[in-house]
Amino acid sequence: MTTTAPLSVYHAIYGRRSAWKFTDRPVDLMAIERMLDAAIWAPNHRLTEPWRFFVLEQESPERSRAAELAAEFQLERTGDQRRADAARQKVLEPPVIIYVYTVPGPDDETTKENYASVCIAVHNISLAGAAEGLAVTWETGGVMRHPGLGQMLGADESWQMTAMLLVGHPGEHPVSRRSPASGFVRWFKSKGKSI
Ligand SMILES: Cc1cc2nc3c(=O)[nH]c(=O)nc-3n(C[C@H](O)[C@H](O)[C@H](O)COP(=O)(O)O)c2cc1C
Repeated sequence: MTTTAPLSVYHAIYGRRSAWKFTDRPVDLMAIERMLDAAIWAPNHRLTEPWRFFVLEQESPERSRAAELAAEFQLERTGDQRRADAARQKVLEPPVIIYVYTVPGPDDETTKENYASVCIAVHNISLAGAAEGLAVTWETGGVMRHPGLGQMLGADESWQMTAMLLVGHPGEHPVSRRSPASGFVRWFKSKGKSI
């Protein structure tokens, strides 16, 4: 599946932002399908296709279960009921949540390559989301570390949880910042040439 969204890759890269507040506007599930189609075009060595996605719509029973697990996890860790309630709410609020897992390889090298490929797939989702007018926020904390989450979703025990993606029409436009690329680059120039 392809989209004709008229957005250059640079616009998507610079225009993409994480958001933690979403509007009530429903998300077109065809857009989610297009984003997942874009995800699997991530480069992957040996074509291992190591990504596994679980899409949870807002009213699905699985979303409620994930929210309860998030609250349980927070309560066990902190004993603080208010933080547990906030953790539950955080999982309930986004119009769509996508949990992303990495299938390990038969050896350490392939497992690392697989993880790298899944990270690229996740970023493809984010960039495609920008083209669709959606914010896609990558999180790795909280309920993701609850072993019961993978079990509830039907993920294999060996798979590595890689991302929880909060997806929706952004209800905020946070500002982000980066240091100039030149501070991280050593550039070895060809003799006699400069740009
Ligand atoms: C691997 C990864 C894990 C992240 N985990 C979290 C997280 O657990 N909680 C959170 O609030 N943001 C998380 N973020 C989002 C970053 O905070 C966000 O990307 C950063 O603030 C830069 O903002 P931007 O995405 O709008 O450029 C994560 C991002 C990445 C790439």
